[in-house]
Amino acid sequence: MATREPIGVVGTGYVGLVTAAGFAELGNEVWCIDIDAEKIERLRRGEIPIYEPGLADLVQKHRGRLHFSTDIADALEHARLLFVAVGTPPTYSGDPDLSAVRAVVASMPASDHHALIMKSTVPVGTGASIKRFFAEQGKGDFRYVSCPEFLKEGAAIEDFLSPDRVVVGDDGDWAGDAVVELYSPLEAPLVRTDIASAEMVKLAANAFLATKISFINEIANVCEETGADVIEVARGMGLDDRIGPKFLQAGIGFGGSCFPKDVLGLKQLAGNSGYHFQLLNAVIEVNELQKRRVISKLQKHLGTLIGKRIALLGLAFKPNTDDMREASSLVLSARLQADGATVVAYDPVADEEAAKLLPGVTLASDALAAVDGADAVVLVTEWQEFRDLDWSAVADGMGGTVLIDGRNALDPAAVRAAGLTYEGIGRG
Ligand code: UGA
Repeated sequence: MATREPIGVVGTGYVGLVTAAGFAELGNEVWCIDIDAEKIERLRRGEIPIYEPGLADLVQKHRGRLHFSTDIADALEHARLLFVAVGTPPTYSGDPDLSAVRAVVASMPASDHHALIMKSTVPVGTGASIKRFFAEQGKGDFRYVSCPEFLKEGAAIEDFLSPDRVVVGDDGDWAGDAVVELYSPLEAPLVRTDIASAEMVKLAANAFLATKISFINEIANVCEETGADVIEVARGMGLDDRIGPKFLQAGIGFGGSCFPKDVLGLKQLAGNSGYHFQLLNAVIEVNELQKRRVISKLQKHLGTLIGKRIALLGLAFKPNTDDMREASSLVLSARLQADGATVVAYDPVADEEAAKLLPGVTLASDALAAVDGADAVVLVTEWQEFRDLDWSAVADGMGGTVLIDGRNALDPAAVRAAGLTYEGIGRG
C-alpha cells in the first residue's frame, strides 16, 4: 500500500468517529480531537460513546492508528489536513448554530501547509466567510475545502467505505488535491467543484430526500381517503427509474439529526437571501402533521384517549441507532399524554436516551412487557425484532386489540390472524 498521509479529525460524534475509523481502515494515522475530556478518556479506553453497527469493531481493529486527544495542537503537529466534524445543531431561528465550527476556526494558527476540510453540514457561504476570517487574521494561506458527508446513521461504516459519490469543493489548490487523493482508494464518482456548490449539494440532497418522504406520506393520506394502498402505489412508482424505489416508504414522518435541521436550514438560508422556498414549507408542515395523524387513528378505534394505555414499540428516529433527535416518538408520546393516555414504551437500544427525553413515559424492558395490558400498540420504529414478534403472544398480553403500524413494516395478515385490528399508513 502506498504511504497514506496522516489526518486530523476535530469532533468525535457520529460523523467524526466514522470518518476517523474509516480512514484508519484505509491505512491513515488519525488524530481525533474533542473538547470533551471525558469522551476522549472513554475513547482511549476503547469505549464507543454511540451505538453504530460495526464502529466499535473498526475502532478496536485500528487502535494503533487512532490517537485521541483534547489538544488540537496534536492534530496540527502530525497532520496537514484537519477534518471538521463538530455539531451544527438548529437554533430557535432555524439557522444552524455555528459556534463550534467558529471555535475550531478561531483556534487555527497562521499556516501555509494546513487545511480545514469541512465535514459538518453548514449553510452555503460558510466557507467563504471562514476564508474571509482567515484573511482578516493574517492567516490567508490556511486552505479550506468543503467535503460534505452523506453517511446514514445505522449504515455509516458501509456508507463511508462505499459512498455513492465524494464531493470536494475547493479553490483548486494542493488541499483539494490531497482530499481527492485521500478518498481515491474508494473509487467513488468524484464531484470536484467550487466551495459554495459543494455546500449546496449537501443541503439540496437532504432536502430532496425529505421532500420524497413528505410526498409519499401525502400520497398515503390520499390513499386512505380513496381506498388505494400506498405500498402498491410506491412499488409501481419506484420502478420508473427516474423516480427510483428508495425513500418512498410512507410512515409517521422523518426525524433524526439531519433532515429536520437541514430542511429548515435551507428554508432559512433561502429566506435570509431573499428567496421564499415555498416547497420546503410544505415538506416541513406535512412532516409535523404526519406524526400527529396516529392520534386520530387511535381515537377512531378507541374513542377518547383519557385513561387509555398505549404502548409504543420503538423510540429511536429509525432502527439501528440510539439517536432520539427529532424522533416521531417525542411528539407522539407528548400528544398522547396531553390527551390523557398512559404511555408505555420499549426500544432495543434507545432506552437510556429515552429516559432523559420522555418524562412520564414508562419504559419497559422488552416488547411483551410494553404491550402488557395495552388498549393499543403503535409501531414507531421498525426494528427487526418487532417484525419478528409473536403476534399471538402480543394479542394475549394486550387489554385491547388495536395495532397501528406507523412504518408499514408488518404483515397485516399475520397481525390479523392473531386477532388484532391492523391499521397501517395509507393502506386503503
Ligand atoms: C440522512 C441522509 O440519508 C444521509 O445521506 C445524510 O448524510 C444524513 O441525513 C446527514 O445529513 O447527516 P439519517 O438522518 O441518518 O441520514 O437517516 P435516514 O436513513 O436518511 O432517515 C431519515 C428519516 O427519514 C428517518 O426518520 C426515517 O424513518 C425516515 N424515512 C426514510 C421515511 O420515513 N421514509 C423513507 O422512505 C425513508
